[in-house]
Amino acid sequence: MHASRKPLIAGNWKMHYGGPAGVELAIACVRIAPKVPKVELVIAPPFTALAACAHECEGKGVAVAAQNFYPKDQGAFTGEVSAPMLKDAGCTWVIVGHSERRQYFGETDASVGEKTKVAIASKLPPIVCVGETLAERESGKTLEVVRRQVAAFLDFIAEAPGVAAIAYEPVWAIGTGKTAGPAEAEEVHAAIRAQLADRLPEVAEKTRILYGGSVKADNAKGLLGCANVDGALIGGASLDAASFGAIAEAAQGLT
Ligand code: PGA
Repeated sequence: MHASRKPLIAGNWKMHYGGPAGVELAIACVRIAPKVPKVELVIAPPFTALAACAHECEGKGVAVAAQNFYPKDQGAFTGEVSAPMLKDAGCTWVIVGHSERRQYFGETDASVGEKTKVAIASKLPPIVCVGETLAERESGKTLEVVRRQVAAFLDFIAEAPGVAAIAYEPVWAIGTGKTAGPAEAEEVHAAIRAQLADRLPEVAEKTRILYGGSVKADNAKGLLGCANVDGALIGGASLDAASFGAIAEAAQGLT
């Protein structure tokens, strides 16, 4: 972490806790906030729980993110949800380009770029996800793949330095219990930051680059201690408020 960037700890609930149980989890997350004043906390419930969770979190130090959106404001797009609708529901962040969306729902570098552009224009800051698959890592293509993914949205985040966050999530580490070690994570984070600096130094200085992929209470400190790791995007462990809180406290301890 770096003193100039506030650590961001975000919980991606995926397709879990979409009803009353989600509201309870949000309330439990609100209780974490006073213990970690130097950390920005974000939770990303499913669409169905966003408004209710945002209601519980309002003014209490926990921001609410959606996990996806459709990059048009309104119209005949059955089943989709727009950035203005998410803002109406109380969201102040949106996750864009998660690997599960790329893998199962046909998202491409181009659609991730478009969503990043529209999210920023809509004043709904995106957490844009990148990361290589196991096959790509094993064939030595990690940095090439991540640079290509970042290039697809770099121009858009350069227009508003520090508004978007980037999450580096190696696909092979998501939900598998395998994490990139701190040195492996730092190598990619440093490469992303260098790519941002090439475009505009201010973007490199201000953009928070989160690590994601099996982050737990017991490995958080090592990962968050890396110079270019500014926070975490947490799946499984964010479904348990005690684990999520312990990760946030690890970040607080490093500030
Ligand atoms: P995980 O998920 O922490 O369960 O590996 C991370 C993510 O997909 O954002």
